[in-house]
Amino acid sequence: MKFSRAYLLVAIVSIFEHVQSSLTLDSLARDVERVESIREIKDVTKTFAQLAQFGEWREMSKLFTSEGLFEWGNQTAVGPQAIATKLRNTAGNMDGIHPGSLNTMIIENPVISLSEDGQSAKGRWNGIRFMGDGAGGTLIQGGTYENGYQLVDGKWYITHLGYHAMYSGPYKGGWRNVGGALPLVPYHYTPESVGIPIPTPLGDPSPTEATAAGLSHRISRMNDEDDVRNLQHAYGFYIDRRMWSDVVDLFASDGSVHIRNVGIHSGAGGIRKSLEERMGPEGLTQGINNDHPIFGLIVEVHPNGKQALARGIEVGMIGDTKTRAASWEFNVFRNHFVKENGLWKLKKVDVTPLIVADYYQGWGNGSLAPLNDHVPHFLDITVQKSDALKGPRNRTDIDLEDLERRLRRSAAYDGAENNSHAYGFYADDLVCAGFGYLFAKKGHKASPFAGYFQTPERITQACFASYGTNRSTLRSSISFHWRPQPVILVSEDGRSATLRARLLQPSTSTTKAGSFNNAIYHDQVVLEDGKWRLWSVTIDEFYWQSSSWEGGWSAANPRNSSAPNPAPAAWISKYPPDISLVGVGDRESTFRGGSGNFIEWPDIQRMWFQYRNPVSGRLPEYYWPGCVPCKAKPEWALTANGYQEPATGPDGS
Ligand SMILES: *[C@@H]1O[C@H](CO)[C@@H](O)[C@H](O)[C@H]1NC(C)=O
Ligand SMILES: *[C@@H]1O[C@H](CO)[C@@H](O)[C@H](O)[C@H]1NC(C)=O
Ligand SMILES: *[C@@H]1O[C@H](CO)[C@@H](O)[C@H](O)[C@H]1NC(C)=O
Ligand SMILES: *[C@@H]1O[C@H](CO)[C@@H](O)[C@H](O)[C@H]1NC(C)=O
Ligand SMILES: *[C@@H]1O[C@H](CO)[C@@H](O)[C@H](O)[C@H]1NC(C)=O
Ligand SMILES: *[C@@H]1O[C@H](CO)[C@@H](O)[C@H](O)[C@H]1NC(C)=O
Repeated sequence: MKFSRAYLLVAIVSIFEHVQSSLTLDSLARDVERVESIREIKDVTKTFAQLAQFGEWREMSKLFTSEGLFEWGNQTAVGPQAIATKLRNTAGNMDGIHPGSLNTMIIENPVISLSEDGQSAKGRWNGIRFMGDGAGGTLIQGGTYENGYQLVDGKWYITHLGYHAMYSGPYKGGWRNVGGALPLVPYHYTPESVGIPIPTPLGDPSPTEATAAGLSHRISRMNDEDDVRNLQHAYGFYIDRRMWSDVVDLFASDGSVHIRNVGIHSGAGGIRKSLEERMGPEGLTQGINNDHPIFGLIVEVHPNGKQALARGIEVGMIGDTKTRAASWEFNVFRNHFVKENGLWKLKKVDVTPLIVADYYQGWGNGSLAPLNDHVPHFLDITVQKSDALKGPRNRTDIDLEDLERRLRRSAAYDGAENNSHAYGFYADDLVCAGFGYLFAKKGHKASPFAGYFQTPERITQACFASYGTNRSTLRSSISFHWRPQPVILVSEDGRSATLRARLLQPSTSTTKAGSFNNAIYHDQVVLEDGKWRLWSVTIDEFYWQSSSWEGGWSAANPRNSSAPNPAPAAWISKYPPDISLVGVGDRESTFRGGSGNFIEWPDIQRMWFQYRNPVSGRLPEYYWPGCVPCKAKPEWALTANGYQEPATGPDGS
């Protein structure tokens, strides 16, 4: 593997420990800019994907530097003009422009590393692209990106888009590995470097014109962005489970839902009606799949700090095993939010359906719904660095240390997301030592169908016990561990966080078509010795599984209820966990290896939440704050180890 020196040499000290002793307006300004940079880099990449959906090749090419390199598998182009041409030519009629065509490009799961001087960055991402020309032609492509970025005149650009093609195929018959067994895509980071929350800058901060009021404004904008992201993602998780009461709670009293070409509903009653009409009654019953994963979310907070927009891609994976009905939906949403009495709420959900397709037919011939001709406006991702609020540099009524704490909370959001995805990439590649390294000294991880292992060393050994020590790095099959749609709750002091994410698992192999599984991750992360570390990781799996590509998610048959519960993973007799899933008790009892009756799709598995409704505080049916094994292992709690437990509801408790 190749690693650039700049990324290996970063000292293991966080900017925040570094500035503690010398917090000045200039050092704070530099650190604000670095957290903003991480976000802008993510947004540039997500904008690339959002533009692709409408064949906006020229706009996509403008996201590259003048010498920018575009590599798409074996296709390359240099410079914006050539890149635009290449994008157009390789898409053909599967461009999102031709009537009935589809070009939904999803780029997710970022691990972003900023250079020490803050002027360049690298990013690893997963991608999947769903394409069709509306005249029978289809293509699905998937792979991993290793990208480069550069700051030019205060704006971030792509210097290298490096897409490594890993799977590809038409809708009918599905996808296979590209080129046989798949090599590892070289990582731009090492296990040792993961979790460094933005490297220590070189030298003293450069003098700036920054004012405390201006910096406070920029930090608030990032804090607000975090809240809006959480709200949008929480909304998505409630939609999946048809938790209509929780969905309605998220709206302001004058809220509304607008589905293009379908209709507008407003007020609590109208919103509930719209949900029921489109997706069915409250709650899931056996065989119902209502998943609408959210991808590529970009948030724009208005300078007034009272309004915000969130634009992203929603993919409906919908069905009913009883009738064997199954369908796809490809939607764009551009939602409005308002802040009322310090609390963000949904004001308007605005969905543009692009394609609705029967699972067994695919989207080759276009949509079952009326053709869409509306392009929802893209968001402005440029960070507003011009300090909106000027003021004297020597103001003493603004507490710089509190500003720094608030900045640390937003940096924690990105740090937690970074760890989550670093974990996902090591899980894809079964890099066991990489896994272990991501954990805190006393961190713990659930091994599926087995139990919890504590300490990096034991987590690594459990991975070997489960997957073997002698694996080829050329893989004939891969199960990907996408962790999109995080809801990240950060503690007041910014030193710990909980993260809920979806596990979306596309698979690929040389011999048969890949398909999808869905599960939920419950993580906690901590800042330990200046690095973000995983504290607790639980996977609740599976909520649904595709029987095969041909059958999809609606082909499953109910489990024989008199059959015995499946046994826990056999390898735990050789390498026993610190606590088994049985030992954890009720919380894991319905999952494979747990103490109770196993629930398997198409039966509806219990859905756990570690937070209450972010607007109303409503308790979910299955509520489990804190770490999953913590009732059985209270000494594993964050609070037993010098960390704060993040607030789980809107009242801050
Ligand atoms: C490029 O890759 C595609 C598969 O992604 C393959 O079909 C094609 O033959 C390759 N072209 C060349 C010139 O290698
Ligand atoms: C994410 O992890 C990478 C890999 O070690 C590290 O270089 C980077 O600083 C981290 N980024 C954030 C935002 O924490
Ligand atoms: C598209 O429609 C044509 C003609 O109706 C049909 O023969 C073909 O199988 C369809 N293709 C797909 C991918 O649905
Ligand atoms: C701040 O600086 C200005 C001059 O730049 C001066 O007039 C004012 O008295 C100072 N205020 C404080 C609180 O030091
Ligand atoms: C690892 O596997 C390869 C191929 O399966 C085999 O040739 C080799 O002997 C194995 N090495 C060890 C140490 O088991
Ligand atoms: C269900 O499982 C029981 C116990 O293993 C077995 O006797 C029975 O034949 C199974 N029924 C079906 C329909 O497979």
